[in-house]
Amino acid sequence: MKDTAATVMERCDLLSNITEDAEGICRPYGSQSMREVNNIVSGWMRAAEMSVRQDSIGNLVGRYGGNGEKTLVLGSHLDTVRNAGKYDGILGVLLAVACVEELHAKNRKLPFAVEVVGFADEEGLRFGTTYLGSSVYAGDFDPARLALADRNETTLLRAVRDFGGDPEALVGGGRSGEDLIGYCEVHIEQGPVLEAMDLPVGVVTGIQGQSRIQAGFTGVAGHAGTVPMNGRRDALCAAAEFVLEVERAARAEPPAVATVGEIRALPGASNVIPAETRLAVDLRHPDDVSRVRLRDGLRRRAEDIAKERSCDNSWQVRQETAAIPMDERMTAKLAQAVERAGYPAHRLPSGAGHDAAQLAALTAPAMLFVRCKDGISHNPAESVTKGDVGVALDVLGHFVELLAEN
Ligand code: GLV
Ligand code: MN
Ligand code: MN
Ligand code: MN
Repeated sequence: MKDTAATVMERCDLLSNITEDAEGICRPYGSQSMREVNNIVSGWMRAAEMSVRQDSIGNLVGRYGGNGEKTLVLGSHLDTVRNAGKYDGILGVLLAVACVEELHAKNRKLPFAVEVVGFADEEGLRFGTTYLGSSVYAGDFDPARLALADRNETTLLRAVRDFGGDPEALVGGGRSGEDLIGYCEVHIEQGPVLEAMDLPVGVVTGIQGQSRIQAGFTGVAGHAGTVPMNGRRDALCAAAEFVLEVERAARAEPPAVATVGEIRALPGASNVIPAETRLAVDLRHPDDVSRVRLRDGLRRRAEDIAKERSCDNSWQVRQETAAIPMDERMTAKLAQAVERAGYPAHRLPSGAGHDAAQLAALTAPAMLFVRCKDGISHNPAESVTKGDVGVALDVLGHFVELLAEN
């Protein structure tokens, strides 16, 4: 018998070699590697008798026809962070493709079509704002994002065009939700809960909210050897103070988590006092009111720090996503599918963001987590077992059949 889980693992290995960086996996939005991955995955989709298209931002959409008017959407994202693991996002897309391959091999047509989507940008690596792909698909794209620039000052507008997309079609170019039954995303857990409970999979209850902010400090460049310490307007010292403030603020309000994951100092020379810094702040909380309060408090602290150091400061909120509960009916079906596969359906919240949070604007979302080793993710050490991938595939198979029953 064909070992589909092994095929999924092999495909994750294969796609991990398609990257922008010489060392480590890195597949940002609009890159050549994204183009290559979309081509390879479309080949697998076509082989399973799916019709394939790429939408206006570059989401890869494969459709397996059914015997009815309705459509179920499955998927996750194909982009990655820098020095990523092999499974974050990719596993969910490839499991969805494998699920359709199994239907196709059995010549099974469901009473609904299955649409598999490989979203173009969930991580937000290039533009500091996440869910670009799924926000377009869900018809919830904010055109203000088109002006956001990457590290090389290339705007999103330009990046979409360069990729062969259609910036004019991003707004209102989403899919209609009228025919949709719902959306189901399989994803690695990226946390330690399932491993601690000795369970291969779990059912997600909801996704916590997040803010992503680009904070900046501007001081004055000067000679590192001649400007006395008390006359300096050092933008990196202001940023350093602010980074620790971000950590303190989140620690003071559990379960908040806050991270400054990227910082740039300009002009960037060892003998020049930094004139400008830009920081990427990522702030999350399961409660939206608490997150917004924290966010506003951090903004005031950035202003105070800038004033104390005679610097200017800037504050650009690049992303704001509310906490999203999963749909109860879809989640109950998924839990039933887990039980049919022979496991207890443990429910757990998601600390990480997922396209399902954005799909909630379009249809009823549900998510299945797959255990990952030591809970490690956003790290090349990300690891899952073939056995657990097999369980997830089995659950997905039961899930579509349960939906087909009524
Ligand atoms: C996605 O990986 C996120 O940042 O939560
Ligand atoms: Mn991720
Ligand atoms: Mn992900
Ligand atoms: Mn089974």
